Amino acid sequence: MTASPNRISGAGRVVERAGGSLTPPHYPLWPLANTGVVALGRPFPGLPSPPVRSSAERRELLKGVYEEARGCVRCPLHHTRTTVVFGNGNANADLMFIGEAPGANEDRMGLPFVGQAGKLLDKLLAEIGMERNDVFVANTLKCRPPDNRDPHPNEIEACQEYLRRQVDLIEPTVICTLGNFSTKLLRADSTGISRLHGRAEIRVIGPRAVRLYPLYHPAAALYTSSTLEALRMDFHRIPELLALGPPEQPRAFEEPIPELDELLVEIQGPAGAGEAEPAAQLGLF
Ligand code: URA
Repeated sequence: MTASPNRISGAGRVVERAGGSLTPPHYPLWPLANTGVVALGRPFPGLPSPPVRSSAERRELLKGVYEEARGCVRCPLHHTRTTVVFGNGNANADLMFIGEAPGANEDRMGLPFVGQAGKLLDKLLAEIGMERNDVFVANTLKCRPPDNRDPHPNEIEACQEYLRRQVDLIEPTVICTLGNFSTKLLRADSTGISRLHGRAEIRVIGPRAVRLYPLYHPAAALYTSSTLEALRMDFHRIPELLALGPPEQPRAFEEPIPELDELLVEIQGPAGAGEAEPAAQLGLF
């Protein structure tokens, strides 16, 4: 079976989502780093198809990941954080934004992009006819680095599995990386944002191909008018990208892979635990 788009988007909204199937995920735990650029018309061989999930299932699985993340002690940032900022928005979004790390306001409130950079993000979203609950917003790091210093490599390494699972579950069509850290992580490449911003490319992230669209970080645009101008121009192209729909997907394996069963249990773990009440900060719509 070939992976097929399971939603139709208009102006970034989910208009319809087919499915509801409880098909287990027949694919391995995947590295967040890209496995390569998909040449259009030539499917990327060897990847099994991702599962088709209902909206409710997707939300429950995401809550499970949140429940894990909020007690996370994988890196030293847990000593200094107030709150794990998991990310929030629409679990069924076609459009996902990935920033750098929570700042002081985010750490206090448990929500991403609630300070000045967040207000700019909201303004730019409004300019393209969208709002926060049309999109999902997350960060490379879920915990605030002290004094808003840059994320350290060990922190990114420790945290990337949460982001990987978020992308995997949300299945966005377009991912906008905001700034250098998320761009470098998702592209698995050290090319900087000033060279890449506004250049959409198709990338295989885990089991799926997405339209990756690096943008300047809104915080960088707060104080430099040329950066704001570039960010705004790039931002205004998002509806065009969404209108293209999902890119051609990697070719699926015909058969489930038996030796992956243990990994599947690991992936499905949070689903079984799904009785936990959603925390208010998750803000899933
Ligand atoms: N900057 C980020 O990268 N993320 C936030 O959540 C806030 C500011």
